[in-house]
Amino acid sequence: MALKHSYTLLAPLYDFIVAGPLDKARANSIGSITDFADKDILINGIGSGLDIPHLPRDARYTGTDITPAMLKIAQKRAQKHAFSIELICADSQQLPFDDGQFDIVLMHLILAVVPQPALALQEAARILKPGGSLYIFDKFLKPGEFAPVRKAINLLSRHIATRMDVVFEETLAHSPTLKIISDEPVLANGWFRLIKLEKSLITKDEN
Ligand SMILES: C[S@@+](CC[C@H](N)C(=O)[O-])C[C@H]1O[C@@H](n2cnc3c(N)ncnc32)[C@H](O)[C@@H]1O
Repeated sequence: MALKHSYTLLAPLYDFIVAGPLDKARANSIGSITDFADKDILINGIGSGLDIPHLPRDARYTGTDITPAMLKIAQKRAQKHAFSIELICADSQQLPFDDGQFDIVLMHLILAVVPQPALALQEAARILKPGGSLYIFDKFLKPGEFAPVRKAINLLSRHIATRMDVVFEETLAHSPTLKIISDEPVLANGWFRLIKLEKSLITKDEN
């Protein structure tokens, strides 16, 4: 089953399952962003828009997701909070934006969800301005971690909700313009992490 179809089925239940347990970490990720003012910000894989109540107003926001049913809930949430955001149905692995279009990209619970995380991270790096920041909140295995239960669950979960076998360091290795600014364990013994990356100021042509 394509993730778009399973998330269409999950959409009415999503907030009930995810909102409470992960809200503090989500707020901490957004709280670590120091400067929103007048920035172009992409909420990549916005889902039902659970980030929206935590986001300050003084920026220009775009939100993408592959599942229209999730975007519909995000739209309602934006209206409820009088929050201005352009919502676009798009694949994180092939974003419909120009190179260097955004100052900040948020990727909460999306990098370890998509079939090809390395491709999604490369796309996020592409659409970031040089010097731009990328904030990730997700679950990752550590390099070489055994994790037999998660790897077994992954055989099914990767098709209906999320991958459980993504090693962040392996994913990052495909995006040489990104460097780690901070990497903090937040939940479940460090399975969930808050990671801040920055795109190098030197572009490919200057290398
Ligand atoms: C676990 S939810 C996370 C949603 C939201 N970011 C949050 O923090 O609650 C994963 C989201 O990824 C979306 N998704 C799955 N595959 C995608 C893809 N290839 N491109 C964009 N969105 C995708 C799903 O529709 C779903 O809304």
